[in-house]
Amino acid sequence: MSTARVNALMAQMTTEEKIGQLIQLSADFFQNGQAEITGPMQDKNLTLDIVYSAGSVLGISGAEKVKNIQKDFIEHNRLHIPLLFMADVVHGYQTIYPIPLGLGATFNPELVRQTSEVAARESAAGGIHVTFAPMVDLVRDPRWGRVMESTGEDPYLNSVLAKASVDGYQGNLPLDKEHIAACVKHFAAYGAPEAGREYNTVDLSEWRFREQYLPAYAAAIEAQAMLVMTSFNTLFGVPATVNQHLMRDILRDELNFNGVLISDWDAIAEVMSHGVAADLAKAADLALTAGVDIDMMSFAYAKYLEKASKIDEKTLNLINEAAARVLELKEKLGLFEDPYRGLDVNVEAKEVYSSANLAVAQYAAEESIVLLKNEADILPLQKSMKLALVGPVVTSNDLLGSWSWQGERREKETLAQVFDKNFENIQVEAGCNYHSSDSILEQQAVAAAEKQDVIVAFIGLPSSESGEATSKTDINVPKEQLALLEKLVTLNKPIISVVVTGRPLDLRRVSELSDAVVVAWFPGSKGAVAIENILDGTVSPSGKLPMTFPRNIGQVPIYYNSYRTGRPITNTPEDDVNKYQSKYLDCDNSPLYSFGFGLSYAKLGIKSVDIINDNVNDEQPLVLEVTVINESNFSAKNTLQCYTHQLTGETVRPVKELKQFKKLTFAANSEQKIQITIAKDLLSNVHTNLNCYVDSGKYEVMVGFDSDNVITKSFKVE
Ligand code: GLC
Repeated sequence: MSTARVNALMAQMTTEEKIGQLIQLSADFFQNGQAEITGPMQDKNLTLDIVYSAGSVLGISGAEKVKNIQKDFIEHNRLHIPLLFMADVVHGYQTIYPIPLGLGATFNPELVRQTSEVAARESAAGGIHVTFAPMVDLVRDPRWGRVMESTGEDPYLNSVLAKASVDGYQGNLPLDKEHIAACVKHFAAYGAPEAGREYNTVDLSEWRFREQYLPAYAAAIEAQAMLVMTSFNTLFGVPATVNQHLMRDILRDELNFNGVLISDWDAIAEVMSHGVAADLAKAADLALTAGVDIDMMSFAYAKYLEKASKIDEKTLNLINEAAARVLELKEKLGLFEDPYRGLDVNVEAKEVYSSANLAVAQYAAEESIVLLKNEADILPLQKSMKLALVGPVVTSNDLLGSWSWQGERREKETLAQVFDKNFENIQVEAGCNYHSSDSILEQQAVAAAEKQDVIVAFIGLPSSESGEATSKTDINVPKEQLALLEKLVTLNKPIISVVVTGRPLDLRRVSELSDAVVVAWFPGSKGAVAIENILDGTVSPSGKLPMTFPRNIGQVPIYYNSYRTGRPITNTPEDDVNKYQSKYLDCDNSPLYSFGFGLSYAKLGIKSVDIINDNVNDEQPLVLEVTVINESNFSAKNTLQCYTHQLTGETVRPVKELKQFKKLTFAANSEQKIQITIAKDLLSNVHTNLNCYVDSGKYEVMVGFDSDNVITKSFKVE
């Protein structure tokens, strides 16, 4: 329902001006504080009039810059309609948080909400109105470089964190000037490209799409995300950007989304490359019919300008529908009252990279770090220990990760500086580069390590090898880095490997060579401090894997909530002789490290799981009481996880599904009772008629600090 102002504006607008609202331009068109058509943009057949009638721009920020552009734009726009400024604020604006895969590892929704809220405050002060986040694509293939932008492989975790992120960016509606509109992406199922190859075909049954991939988008939309971005891939055989079933039936009608639908970059024009539109005009018609409101930089919608006076009524109605939604978004952002909403040079100077924001970044980084191995409790390190810091990351300090766009490059603390501040004696030698050995570097690293007590190896991949257009067929740690570890292990000193990565890697050899293994993801602006705080025990590691780490690439896709098969491995002695089971000849079915896994310095155990209510119905949830003991002197956070398993269903059911988790602090030498409830509707699943509802019958609930080591109890649903 359009507001009076939008209706009045629409009544004054020409068809050309309405089409203008559907066009999003890049920063290239506004380089010097005003519209201009220069360089590569000259071949886009756009006039200055068209630029000054555009609806939005992406990739510009900075209070002063946005203010100048907006002022000039409004003066040149006949009806003084302000521009929308959109940008990729994905895991922070200038204060950078861990990459979303690391935020997923925190299993801490309130923390994720906080990081989004702080990012919103910083970017609103910098003149941004909309962020292209959260990306909630479910991911199960580490060959795909954009797994770093997702919170992982689980529908429930992704749904909870999607809501938290939208709540953080937008705050309570109506939006105030410290919050920005969230654009949930990429709709839909972009995270499932065949063979993990970027932009490749996605071929999912609608049943599976609805059961595992749709929930997180639905959660973001339920949280009132004001925009949705289309995905590059096909789904159900049709490019998502022009897929009417996906965009009209599912997004608009079923999920009741009436916000702005924006294409991904050039995605409308790419429908021609998909071979589903013969020309740009046809691509525009297909996208408009599917309900795409804004064309990001494909200039397909600009084609309508060439025939504005001859557009048929059906198309005109679609243009009106789209233009009204863009204007409503501007209205909701308060841009008609104040085109400079939120932007403020002084606030920007105070807010951006503030110590308060950096404190949130440090907290997030500390909670994202996952301890995978800690042989003989070599960690935490004693500050009296003499350390050799080696590996390519220790000199690159490449810790912000991909999509850190405006990320603060003024790295105040390097790894060497932070460790030097906290340990009496450190030696720093890279030992090798990311992808190349160097005999001098190696000799220097070995010589340094010989003099020290403990070796801390910072290994992994550069941020340039994760994010968009970075698919890889090889998920091994580079052989040069393994060669360095092989050399260092001959010194018979403890080795702590800290893996900085945007994707799960094959860590078999690293794990064999290291006494301790820590995954730090790309931990952001305070990553160095966070890593040191974990290694010296100031903070006990509490991160949990949001995505399975395979033994090798041959297992991919591998994920914990796999569907049951007709010939499952039973882990009984018969398995060794029974050839005809769902298994490999050359590799165990289990991953190297499972979803939900992460060690703590505290010695936590589950003493008992008691079912308070095991007869679930609409009024009565499943109620458990879990008794946890901490038999250590460490007070530590840890995440209690609850998985359910439906014994029989109309469709095949996963072996287990995360349905509840609680991240709690467990005091040293304590015993704690925790009550957990799982409401009936969380047990719903998709049936052959594609309807989603709960089956009555027998279920199991599994409780643990990861998805493997669990205590199982039975319950039933009426
Ligand atoms: C990119 C990405 C999308 C991003 C957009 C604007 O191609 O797919 O996630 O928001 O373009 O930068």
